[in-house]
Amino acid sequence: MTRETYEPTLEFARRRDEADPVRDLRERFALPRGEQGEPLVYLCGHSLGLMPLAARGLVVEELDDWARLGVLGHEHARRPWIPYHENLRDGLAALTGARAAEVVAMSSLTVNLHLLLAAFYRPKGERRRILIEAGAFSSDRHAVASQIAWQGLDPRDALVEMRPPAGQDTIPEETIETYLQEHGAGVALVLWPGVQYRTGQAFDLGRIARAAHRAGCVAGFDLAHSIGNVPHALHDIDADFAVWCSYKYLNGGPGAIGGCFVHEKHDRPRLAGWWGHEPATRFRMGPEFHAAPGAAGWQLSNPPILSAAPLIASLALFEQAGLHRLRQKSLALTGYLEDLLDRLAPDVQLITPRAADSRGCQLSVRITGPHGRGRRVFEALSARGVIADWREPDTIRLAPIPLYNSFADVFRGAEALAQTLRLEH
Ligand SMILES: Cc1ncc(COP(=O)(O)O)c(C=O)c1O
Repeated sequence: MTRETYEPTLEFARRRDEADPVRDLRERFALPRGEQGEPLVYLCGHSLGLMPLAARGLVVEELDDWARLGVLGHEHARRPWIPYHENLRDGLAALTGARAAEVVAMSSLTVNLHLLLAAFYRPKGERRRILIEAGAFSSDRHAVASQIAWQGLDPRDALVEMRPPAGQDTIPEETIETYLQEHGAGVALVLWPGVQYRTGQAFDLGRIARAAHRAGCVAGFDLAHSIGNVPHALHDIDADFAVWCSYKYLNGGPGAIGGCFVHEKHDRPRLAGWWGHEPATRFRMGPEFHAAPGAAGWQLSNPPILSAAPLIASLALFEQAGLHRLRQKSLALTGYLEDLLDRLAPDVQLITPRAADSRGCQLSVRITGPHGRGRRVFEALSARGVIADWREPDTIRLAPIPLYNSFADVFRGAEALAQTLRLEH
């Protein structure tokens, strides 16, 4: 891929914005402002995506239908509540590269991870380990360790946390392949992130699924930081399962409904609930569980309509823009941020890989210097109106989001960071 030539000026950023084919989408989002009403530079969509303006109307419609119809809304709301998850299915399938029946919006991320681990983690004899990355998001580690203990095994033995090679921050796919080639017979399941939350590294999930399967392991993925950020092809790469949340790159709002993918080849015993029952006979309330076909059969409870409605608005914007175009813009935005940091703030260390294929929107930068400097820099940056986030002990994460960030945002964010660094020794 040829790298774009960037210039470190606001004029360049503005010209680049004028040439952006999806620039109008920014107007479809609520852009946060500071206490005096001044616009903020929001580079935190990797943590909480911004509100699509259309979300409000969709939530209000559900409230109005509830007020107007009461229980009859289950069947007679404008978007009937019983099959509500179907409103989200095609959009989620497009973003995950799944067949429509392989995805469902349901519950929340850690709950879905537990449900799928309960079905897919079947330790047997020597093959009892779960492989994750060292420094995994705490909730994933808690889920995995507690599932191991739940099976009567010891996480100190059965939880393998892979570290990056010495002196590196990120884990090359070869390292995972080599481990599985050599030790895969002891591994029951590989759980890997699409994008690692702290480093921003994006993985080639096809390579990981192939390596896991060659070694006889299940391949499961956590797409919290990759869905809506980088393209996926879960069906074609033969992933066994995947889970995600919708409040980051999917802009579903705080605590929004999560989602999961189960490859169509799997129809397994699971922890069941009535909403996963075949819908035509669900309300007979019979004692036997007959699973609905596909991922819909993994639902437990009736869906939280008010936390699912905003996602309809966001998925419509993804469809309108097309993930391919968004990814093109994202590569340019994040490339611009990298270029500006190299020029304006050469003393920060980039943790995220420099290769465009190995990252999404996010850049994680390590603030070097004496203990405490990083935190001070982060706080001073926030005071300058740049919203990013901080990860102990020394990392600021910044993510320009192609749906609503501009090149001018990236310029302002990088310039503010550079000025802050000059003042905070
Ligand atoms: C990678 C990862 N796993 C798990 C979680 C926890 O998600 P939830 O609170 O929705 O279960 C998050 C939340 O940010 C996350 O980023």
